[in-house]
Amino acid sequence: MRCHFGWSFVSGTALAFNTCIGGRTQGLRNTVLSAFDQLFAEGYTKGQIGSGTQVSRILPEDVLAARASPKNRDELHFDLVTSLSIKGNALLKAKSRVRRDTSGHAFRPGIPEITRFPWNNWSRMIAKLWRNPPRSLVSYGEVSGHEPLRIAIVDYLCALRGLVCDADQVIITSGAQQAIDLIARALLNAGDKVWIEDPGYAGIKGVLMAAGDELVPLPVDEQVLVVVEGVRQAPGSRMAVVTPSHQYPLGAMMSLSRRLELLKWAGENNAWILEDNYDSEYRYAGRPLSALQGLDTKGRVIYVSTFSKVMFPAVRMGYMVVPKGLAQPMIDIRRSLDDQTAIVMQPVLTEFIESGHFAQHIRRMRSLYADRQQTLLDAIKLHLNDVLEIAPDDAGMHIVAHIRPECGLVDAKIAEQAAKHKLTLFQLSEFYLGKSDRNGLVLGYAGVEERDIVQSVKKLAKIIAALRK
Ligand SMILES: Cc1ncc(COP(=O)(O)O)c(C=O)c1O
Repeated sequence: MRCHFGWSFVSGTALAFNTCIGGRTQGLRNTVLSAFDQLFAEGYTKGQIGSGTQVSRILPEDVLAARASPKNRDELHFDLVTSLSIKGNALLKAKSRVRRDTSGHAFRPGIPEITRFPWNNWSRMIAKLWRNPPRSLVSYGEVSGHEPLRIAIVDYLCALRGLVCDADQVIITSGAQQAIDLIARALLNAGDKVWIEDPGYAGIKGVLMAAGDELVPLPVDEQVLVVVEGVRQAPGSRMAVVTPSHQYPLGAMMSLSRRLELLKWAGENNAWILEDNYDSEYRYAGRPLSALQGLDTKGRVIYVSTFSKVMFPAVRMGYMVVPKGLAQPMIDIRRSLDDQTAIVMQPVLTEFIESGHFAQHIRRMRSLYADRQQTLLDAIKLHLNDVLEIAPDDAGMHIVAHIRPECGLVDAKIAEQAAKHKLTLFQLSEFYLGKSDRNGLVLGYAGVEERDIVQSVKKLAKIIAALRK
């Protein structure tokens, strides 16, 4: 296909057509023009100013034919997985411990009640703040996060959680998990020993293992981490990761004497303490102890928290409060990795906190979750008392039910059967790093309606009865 004419890129085919066939009807002209355009767009023709339109030497079919067949592609992908880095492989393995995929609503831990979130207020604030945002907000902003939000967080932490800090020490992150990752990257070398609670939060283990750190799992009792055991096993460890306000998942609160013991060890060994505060806002009885950070006089504690539980997990907002001397290096490290957390929700959250909606939502959820916990306890007492041993928990969004040894049942088996009936049960043994003789279920109740709690416990009782036959 070759016409003897030149063409311009903008009106190329029109010009070409006019030169080639002269004036025919408008309809025919348009049809031919769009055919030319289509051939050009799909790569069948090419053209240069002054040299006319020519058929392409490599046709699109040739390119498509050279692409890998689906079978080849699968093999290729398999090879790519085997060539992951050591770090990549560690993260891949760790991910399998954090289950996202769940078959049902009850009783997945860590999920708040999202239908009662004040969506109307939230969306009104988004609309108001983002209709005409100031230029300063939509350019590259501060790596540590929106300053008014950091100030609002500090006001809350100092008044209610006993922290001692200012806004320059706060870094907003994409969830607590990102804060934990940043801390590990910034402060730990491969091979460093790290004390962790056993049982504990799987997300911590993945990050630390990927960083090449040596995990030192320590037992947990009714005062949380057994510090003397850490001192006995690995006194020179570089960090301790703890959930002092509500041990995850067993639920104890770290006693004052243990807090002081841990701080003393960290001070004497220049070790860090990562204080993971994930759900302390939900305390139903007694007063919470001040955060470890507030007792720290030597700058060893990094406090990490999240909005996943007090708002909703997909908001992906969390923060860390670092000792003063660590703030600027941490910000610079973060700048090297990914700059700031997405800005869109930060001013909205600031207004949400400042207007009192945040505190009101927490108050409402606290009372709702307390009722739901009681409903779960009552239902278990009624339908599963001979199988599960359960006690109230003064805080949080889940409870741990221990399987009575005389039943001869294993948590993994119950969870497997329950999944077939759309019940999500996290087995206690999975929260341990080593092999554990603890046999139980971690039952989340915060995001489950009371009616569903009762129905689901009845369903579980039937599943267990069938297993015992
Ligand atoms: C104990 C604990 N720490 C940290 C996190 C991480 O929270 P985020 O959703 O903000 O990454 C979770 C989440 O479930 C958790 O349970």
